[in-house]
Amino acid sequence: MSIEEISDAATAAAPAYGGAEPLLEVEDLRVRFTGRGRRVNAVNGLSYRLHEGRMLAIIGESGSGKSVSSRALMGLLPPTARISGSARFRGMELLNLSEREMRRHRGADIAMVFQDPARSLNPTMRVGVQITEAVRAHSDMDKRAAYERAMELLQLVRLPAPQRRFHEYPHQLSGGMRQRVMIAIALAADPRLLIADEATTALDVTTQAQIMELLLELQERLGMAIIMISHDLGLAASYAHDVIVMYAGRAVEYAPATTLFSHVRMPYTKALLGAIPRLERQPHALLPVTPGQPPDLTALPPGCPFEPRCSRAQQDCGQEAPAFTEHEPGHWWACWHPCEDGETE
Ligand SMILES: Nc1ncnc2c1ncn2[C@@H]1O[C@H](COP(=O)(O)OP(=O)(O)OP(=O)(O)O)[C@@H](O)[C@H]1O
Ligand code: SF4
Ligand SMILES: [Mg+2]
Repeated sequence: MSIEEISDAATAAAPAYGGAEPLLEVEDLRVRFTGRGRRVNAVNGLSYRLHEGRMLAIIGESGSGKSVSSRALMGLLPPTARISGSARFRGMELLNLSEREMRRHRGADIAMVFQDPARSLNPTMRVGVQITEAVRAHSDMDKRAAYERAMELLQLVRLPAPQRRFHEYPHQLSGGMRQRVMIAIALAADPRLLIADEATTALDVTTQAQIMELLLELQERLGMAIIMISHDLGLAASYAHDVIVMYAGRAVEYAPATTLFSHVRMPYTKALLGAIPRLERQPHALLPVTPGQPPDLTALPPGCPFEPRCSRAQQDCGQEAPAFTEHEPGHWWACWHPCEDGETE
């Protein structure tokens, strides 16, 4: 697919506060893991553009390549990863940076919030110290100024009683509060792009909504862009401007959220959508979207990777993989026999 076309679509849909130049351009990103005689094709040609002030949701089942594709941008993959393609941040190619150069940008330009604050925060350090360290890692502030900046960040993420919490340990905070602290740490160096990888998945539904509201508010206030990674299409529908649905390391549908949810084309997206009201699911249950398993990433089939699970599959689907193409203005999908508006299963 052509990145220029995606860009035009994104630019056309960009809100007024978004710049004309994309903040991040990802083009034909591929990631393979090699080792022990195996080759895992984790990301198989992912392209998108993201503008300042926009929230892009990357949605897909477990193992679809959401985290790997984002960690590749941050230089956070192990040496067994072979990465190709391009990821330009404000025009700078991220995939060629040395570890030393990447360390300068990580946190300062692009920051990440992970699913599990219990693992990301140091349990033996008071939260205030962890935030001040993050502040000082990217600036030459003295202790006093770093303390003030840390308090400012805790207020920004609306941590209740920040003065008191500053001196507490992570285990003394609730899950939602820990996630707020993680967001404060991520914001320490005022990044232009925040990647939230399942950042609300471990939280109850009410806290999840509060954290998403907070991210949206911070995004508008600070003008940054957010990539929100989730397996929850409902969450994307509520908060994201644009949505990419991934399957087996590929983008299979991409559109502004309002278009995607009113004119769904990919049978896989439809299955994800169908799962939302149908399941009185546990808030964070992984979606059993449709029977069957995603394909083995060490041996991808020649045809459409969704074919064994697809209710619309026809004979030609297994022969050649459909290209990811802009079939309608701003709306991309990869399917030989797409769903039509108003169609029911
Ligand atoms: N270090 C690694 N070595 C080999 N394979 C890996 C490695 N890291 C990830 N993978 C594989 O890459 C594929 C994509 O993984 P990824 O973590 O991106 O999935 P995901 O979409 O984020 O899933 P989840 O929703 O469970 O977080 C998976 O098949 C995974 O097993
Ligand atoms: S190409 Fe065929 S198998 Fe693949 S999603 Fe479309 S209809 Fe289903
Ligand atoms: Mg993941």
